[in-house]
This record gives sequence, C-alpha cells and structure tokens, in this order.
Amino acid sequence: MALVFDKMHVIIEGKTKIIYENPDDPKTVFMKFKDDITAGDGVKHDVIQGKALVDWKTNKDIFEYLNRKGIHTHYVESPQECVSIVRKLDYKIDLEVVTRRVAAGSILKWGTAVEGQRFDPLITQFHYKDDPLHDPMLDAAYVEFIISSKQDGHWFKEMREINIDVFQELETAFKQCRIQLIDFKLEYGLIDGKVTLIDEISGGSFRLWPYAKENPDFNQPNILSELDPKGRLDKDNYRLGESLDQVQTKFEQIANLTDTFKDLS
Ligand SMILES: Nc1ncnc2c1ncn2[C@@H]1O[C@H](COP(=O)(O)OP(=O)(O)O)[C@@H](O)[C@H]1O
Ligand SMILES: [Mg+2]
Repeated sequence: MALVFDKMHVIIEGKTKIIYENPDDPKTVFMKFKDDITAGDGVKHDVIQGKALVDWKTNKDIFEYLNRKGIHTHYVESPQECVSIVRKLDYKIDLEVVTRRVAAGSILKWGTAVEGQRFDPLITQFHYKDDPLHDPMLDAAYVEFIISSKQDGHWFKEMREINIDVFQELETAFKQCRIQLIDFKLEYGLIDGKVTLIDEISGGSFRLWPYAKENPDFNQPNILSELDPKGRLDKDNYRLGESLDQVQTKFEQIANLTDTFKDLS
C-alpha cells in the first residue's frame, strides 16, 4: 500500500528533501525526495519534473552498494518511488566533508591547484555547513588540533576515514562505467553514539567525468587530457547554465549507471 504523507509529521524540510516522522517506528524516518534543484548555496533554484525520481534511484543504488560494502550508513530501504527509510539521527554534525581525487571547482580558486591535477593520496576538507556563509572551509591545522586534543576529535578522524573508504568504493564502481569520480561531499551525524554517513548521494553530491580515451593514463600528475569534462554528468551542468532538460538527461544517465552497481557484490 502506498504511503500517504499528507497527514504525517514533517521533522524538517530542506532544499531537496522532506524528512517525515515514521509513525510505526521512532528509530527511523522517511526521506522524501523533491523535484527542486539548487546551486550557489540555494541562490539559484529551479524545479525539474522527475528529478526526485532519478535522485532517489541513484541514492538507492549507491547506499545499497555502500551498505553491502560494510560502510556504516543511515540507509535502511526504499519502500516506494521517491521515498527512503533511514535510521533517525540523534545529532547532526553541521559539516560537509569533501574528498577530491582530481582538482576541479572551488579548489581552483583557493590556491595553486590546476584543473585536472591528480591527488594521490586523496585529499579531504571539512566545510562548516552554512548557506549564508557559503560553507566556509575549516582550517586544516585547526582540524588536526581538534583531532589531537578534543574529546570528540575522533569524529573528525572517523568522518575522514569513512569519506576515503566511500570514495574508493565509488571510484571503483564508476570505473566499470568508464567514468572518473572527481570529487564528492558527504554528510554525517551520530546514531546510537556512532559517526554515521547520512543524507543523500546523488547527482548533486559529486563530479563525474567520462574517460576521453580508450586507454586513459591516470599515472601522471595531471589527468585532464585523459578525461572529458565537457561530457560531465553531474550538477555542474546546472551550475554552468545548461537547459533543465539537459540537466535532467544527465541525471538520468547517472541513474542508469548506478543501476549497474546492483551487479557489483
Ligand atoms: N538520518 C537522518 N535522520 C534525520 N534527519 C536526516 C537524516 N539524514 C538527513 N537528515 C536531514 O535531512 C535534511 C536534508 O535535507 P536537504 O534537502 O538535503 O537539506 P539541505 O537544504 O540542508 O541540504 C537535513 O536537515 C538533515 O539533517
Ligand atoms: Mg542537502
């Protein structure tokens, strides 16, 4: 029987999802995807018919894959289209945790990184999640200070470790589709006292660039020539002003790719 949300209690409505109380289970909540798409910390905003469905599919495939890989996530199941059941947060950690393999996007503005530069080992950055402040990055020395000196420092260590584990799993999975995972951002909270991967992973969470060549050589400091950034499948298409139809078509392509993750053990 289809779930009816009209009378359910909304815990919180964000930019792309609504969280509802689960009347049958206080330990879980319903996460309902919306057709809204935003960029620039919510400044640019549109509604794309059908976006909720493709994001839900991508998110489902990715979280089910990560759960099979033993990553500690909030995801339980997806009982109907556009709806997932997740374990309820006890405490939300207000950070966006970014991991990068290849330099792209905001990192190019901050320092000496050149587009296409390959990071090995992966680099991870913590951003304070605050739209009006444009998600400022935490100072790396400050993060190390927290890890070494504060009671809850192990949260940061664990978030970084989970981010790297997830990156490696997804990088391997997208590789089978001849796509390079460039970077992504994940969010965390505490559930039963444990640092847990929460929220969603979909076309707005990462950058995905197809391979430009039959046999790309990733064993070099800059791999831009091996990749096809113009063929990008992710939300940069929206940020860069592509038509909403184009944006949706690319998101559908991502959902078609992650559909194949079902076959990965
Ligand atoms: N497991 C969970 N339990 C409760 N709330 C959650 C869980 N995972 C994510 N959320 C909440 O869902 C909301 C995310 O919705 P979203 O539309 O992405 O918001 P935002 O505009 O903050 O990006 C956040 O408020 C987040 O705290
Ligand atoms: Mg969000």
